[in-house]
Order: sequence, then structure tokens, then C-alpha cells
Amino acid sequence: MEKKIAVIFGDGIGPEVTKQSIKVLNAVGHRFGHVFHYTEAIMGADAIDKTGNPLPDETITTCLNSDAILFGAIGHPKYDNDPTAKIRPEQGLLKLRKELQLFANIRPITTYHALHHLSPLKSKQLKNIDFVIFRELTGGIYFGKKELSVDQTKATDECSYSRYEIERIAHLAFKYAQKRKRKLTLVDKANVLETSRLWRKVVQETAIQYSDVTVDYMFVDNAAMQIILHPAQFDVIVTENLFGDILSDEASVLSGSLGLLPSASVGNTTALFEPIHGSYPQAAGKDIANPLGSILSAAMMLDHFQMTEEATAVREAVSWTLEHGFVSKDIDAINNYATTAIGDLITDHIERHADGDRLHGHASLNQSTII
Ligand code: IPM
Ligand code: MN
Repeated sequence: MEKKIAVIFGDGIGPEVTKQSIKVLNAVGHRFGHVFHYTEAIMGADAIDKTGNPLPDETITTCLNSDAILFGAIGHPKYDNDPTAKIRPEQGLLKLRKELQLFANIRPITTYHALHHLSPLKSKQLKNIDFVIFRELTGGIYFGKKELSVDQTKATDECSYSRYEIERIAHLAFKYAQKRKRKLTLVDKANVLETSRLWRKVVQETAIQYSDVTVDYMFVDNAAMQIILHPAQFDVIVTENLFGDILSDEASVLSGSLGLLPSASVGNTTALFEPIHGSYPQAAGKDIANPLGSILSAAMMLDHFQMTEEATAVREAVSWTLEHGFVSKDIDAINNYATTAIGDLITDHIERHADGDRLHGHASLNQSTII
């Protein structure tokens, strides 16, 4: 198969982790006989520096003309610490989500046995954790009217949802649950918010069409607690934009590192794949960032292309690096490997079905400490 991939490296560690995914995709292409064509596009602080615009029109066009988008990260401290900045890198990503109508952000939460010790939870609570967060991505408070009074003493962010916006993600989440453990949890704040009451009503009505799926409803404050106390109870969580943003970062600690979690944003046009971690500016350019969130996002892209065997090969290679301790600094502060070294190991594993012993002597390993 041939596929066109738009690549947006973005800011901070975005370029270095995304480059590892490209190596991995090329290895997949090589082994399975596919050709991936890449077109670079700019967004975020990088695009502001180059053009003054966080999302130039060419980027939108490139994305719309591609089969998928691989995206790194967005954000720069010079904007984070300046609340008066009118142009911000994040506006690029938000506008891209809106323009491409990427209304559902899918964030799978997986744990790895080799990393159980990194989780703040006890090992027994980590058993059987396997859930997916469906976060609504183009509505809610992120996109509502924003106002700051003239005297700058009052600010407003409006949160609104239409029935249609809720229905379309609810259908996706129900269909996904049907292929899994057939349980769906709507997370909302229906005891307080009108938008949440609409979510509850629409999800209840939609549920009638999916009688094989068990539905439960949970207030977001309780959900934040349940994710830590009994994470194994969840299968598919569906929720609005802001709640999903917060809960997915929270859930990432279950796996041991935010650096591991991938995501897919899907909707009416080209789907976008990105790690959920941010631009991590302190690590940028140091070759220490964890590339697995990006590489696992590339695996989700392969699933999206219906290249299931290929996606499995990538996930197996990732698990293999974790099991053998080929991990980045966020996972092991003492014995760790460079971003590029981990990318090389995974690439090698996919291309040659390499076994662990041979790779222990890999010349290009750039390990920080000799064990
Ligand atoms: C995410 C990020 C973004 C969001 C930021 C960078 C705008 O945190 O993808 O989760 O809040 O959606
Ligand atoms: Mn976030």
C-alpha cells in the first residue's frame, strides 16, 4: 500500500520523537511492502517564528491532502508565562482540530508489567487495566466565547454543546465498546452543569441502539478518584473536552510515564496521531525524551490504515524494549538510553525480528551508565 502522511514536528521535543516514528514507519514499510510518503508542515511556536501564524493555510491544505497526520508536540514557555500574548502556539492545534473536524480524541490507557514499579499505585491495583478515553475534541469550553472585561477584572469562557456534537462521539464510543468489553462510562457533572445534563440525556437515548453495551454514569470528581482507586473497572470512557483533557493526563500515571501514551484524533477528514505528552521544552534537543508515545501513536495510525499486523509488530517491539530495560530517562533516571537509540532498537526489531541477546551488544546504543 502507499500512504501520504503529513508530518508536523511542532515544538520542543516534537521533532526528535517524531523522527523516531518515521524511522519505525519506514521499517514497517520495508518489512511489509508499503511505501509512506511524508510531507512536512508547520504549526505552533515553530510556525509563529517562521510566519507569524501558528497554523498557516498551507498546513491545513497539506493535512487535507494526506491520508493521516503525524504530529509531535506544541507549546513554548515564552507564551506559557505571558498571559497577555495574543498569538499562542496552542491556537494552531485547536484550529487544526476544528478545521479538520477531528471531534473524537481516542486515548488508550495501557500498563506494562515491566513498569509497574513506576506507578504510584500498588501492583495489585494495576492488574487488568485496559481502558480507552474518548474525549470530545472540538466543542465545550475550549471553543466557547471568551471574554475579558475592559477593566480586565472579569473573564468568561462559555461552555456549550449541541445534541449533534454529543451524538456523533457517543456513537463512536459505543461502537468501540462493542468491540471490547462492552462497557461504556459517561463522565460528566450532571448534578451541576446544563451541558452535562444534555450529555446524559443524549447518551441515554443513544444507548438504546447499543443494547449489548452496559452504560454507567459517573460525575467527574468521582471519576478522578475511581481512576486511581479502581482503574480496572473501566472499559470505554466518553466525556467532554476539558474533562477528557484532565482525566487522560491523570490516567497516564497508571502506565508509569506520560511519555508512553499515544492518541488518535478522528472525525470527518484526515485523522491525526500524536503523543499526549506536551513539548517538554526542558528536554528539547537533548536526545533524552521518551519516543514511545509518538511511536505508539504511529501504531494507532497503522491500525487506522487497517494494517493490523504491522501495528502489532510495532507494539511488540515497544514492549520488547520495555522488558529489556531499553528505556528513556523518564522511566529510569540512572540506566537509560537516548531517544534515538530507542528509535533504532525498535526499528531494528521490526526490520529484522531481532532477538534481545544480539541487541545487547548493539554498537549504536547510547546508554548513560554502563551496567
Ligand atoms: C492535549 C493538550 C492540548 C489540549 C493543548 C496543548 C492545547 O494538552 O492535547 O491534551 O489541551 O487539548
Ligand atoms: Mn492535555
